[in-house]
Amino acid sequence: MTRELQDLATEIALKAGELILRRRTEGVTVAATKSSAEDVVTLADHESEALIRSLLLDARPDDGFFGEESEASSSTSGLTWIVDPIDGTVNYLYGIPNYAVSVAVVEGEPDPHTWKALAATVTNPAAGETFSAALGEGATLNGRTIRANSGVSASLALLGTGFAYNADRRIWQAGIVQHLIGEVRDIRRMGSAELDLCSVACGRLDGYYERGLNPWDHAAGALIAQEAGARVGGLHGAAASADFTLAADPALFDVLHDLLLDAGAEASILG
Ligand code: IPD
Repeated sequence: MTRELQDLATEIALKAGELILRRRTEGVTVAATKSSAEDVVTLADHESEALIRSLLLDARPDDGFFGEESEASSSTSGLTWIVDPIDGTVNYLYGIPNYAVSVAVVEGEPDPHTWKALAATVTNPAAGETFSAALGEGATLNGRTIRANSGVSASLALLGTGFAYNADRRIWQAGIVQHLIGEVRDIRRMGSAELDLCSVACGRLDGYYERGLNPWDHAAGALIAQEAGARVGGLHGAAASADFTLAADPALFDVLHDLLLDAGAEASILG
């Protein structure tokens, strides 16, 4: 069952990936702004989400839908699809080839504190890379098994992180980076949380953390990183959520967790 869901997630993500890549070459139009002037939504976001939604409705009419750009619909099957039609929207806007379509299916309420992710696919059409996983079945990149790095000390760890659209929150997040950057190898800000989690899964990053993620920013990448051997969670044993998302090999996870607490990661966020 999870394999079938994974195949469907991949089929649909690839179709949406083709669409957004085509639209990118035709020229990107900003359709609206959301939480702030920097938080944009493009016409391609809308088109991609509409395509994914209609394909899911045809294939699995009883499942719920929870996407970034349209109203949620509830599930009668117990399964819900968590969708980001373009993760890395600002990269997409500028033509930086690090953006993705993200499709995950979860069991239970569409709440990252309680859901059980069953299958997921994240595809970066500009790079021709597709990451995928099914619960208990491992993770792949373009069909080949991937594993997260292990045995890396914090001082040699390359981390990824991200910043919010809200300026006060970004300033708060920069404060955490300032504390952490002298403790690790270096820190990258690549602009797509889903691809950051996939980068942990395939060893391009040793760890990743961010505060303030939406469910669609991490649903798929978290399962892929977990199936590649990483631990993905929040602080103090919580599940990954908007409160905090941290991913790394289990031993490094524990060290980074404590470094992040020392850096003030659980203090209240401004804005
Ligand atoms: C954003 C990206 C970014 C992360 C932000 C997200 P969007 O998602 O994943 O890397 O730092 O927190 O909101 O807006 O491009 O879908």
